Amino acid sequence: MKMQVMSSLKKIGLTKQSPAEIVLTTFSPDKKPHASVMGIRAMGGSRVMLRIFTNTRTFRNIFQSRAAVINIVKDVNLLASLALKGFPRFGKITLKFVKSGHVNAPRLAKADARVEVEVEKVERAKISDEIGSSEVACVTARVKNIAVINPSIHPFKRSEFFVIESAILATRIKEALKNGRNEVAKRKFLELIGYMEKCRRIAPDSGALNLMIKIKDLFKNEMG
Ligand SMILES: Cc1cc2nc3c(=O)[nH]c(=O)nc-3n(C[C@H](O)[C@H](O)[C@H](O)COP(=O)(O)O)c2cc1C
Repeated sequence: MKMQVMSSLKKIGLTKQSPAEIVLTTFSPDKKPHASVMGIRAMGGSRVMLRIFTNTRTFRNIFQSRAAVINIVKDVNLLASLALKGFPRFGKITLKFVKSGHVNAPRLAKADARVEVEVEKVERAKISDEIGSSEVACVTARVKNIAVINPSIHPFKRSEFFVIESAILATRIKEALKNGRNEVAKRKFLELIGYMEKCRRIAPDSGALNLMIKIKDLFKNEMG
């Protein structure tokens, strides 16, 4: 059964190695539906894991209701508009919700696939970086139901964008070197390294990172 869940998650692009960017839907304590963009990864067996900042409505909802729906969508406009809804000048987004069948959470009326989950464990940790200090919760949840509407769905994955950007940069670096523009080549190489380090941070065991190392190594001789 657990293996079945794992392979069903994999089929819709949810893996352990590389997080997917999805729309998470939850109920507030007064049963208002809420949606936000979150990264999620499968954890093996029938578990998934999210890292949610505790100062968000999403965290307050999921902590109280103990359930959520992972909605996989292929509309980048929806993801961006939802993530930027707090910016007054970005425009409003209207979403249609319906009640999910297996957990205490709403789901998007339109999604290419959905995974209904129940919270199993919440672990809080303080983090401090160049932006400031915050608290993040590592939320482990168990899959209760999976529905696939579009079997060819593939969620957005940052690690894949990093690979594409690096491949483009590599073609530009090659051209710059050919034209003797060594400073430009160096600048673009540093950009490539930046993407590689971002990929290492979010997906250290992924094929995407291996690909990026291979791309970087194309310039071993020129860039040292
Ligand atoms: C692609 C993408 C991925 C995101 N992933 C996360 C995440 O994993 N955890 C998180 O707390 N916020 C994440 N965010 C930020 C939330 O979407 C944002 O804070 C959102 O407004 C949640 O706040 P709310 O629940 O109060 O609406 C992400 C944003 C984007 C655009």
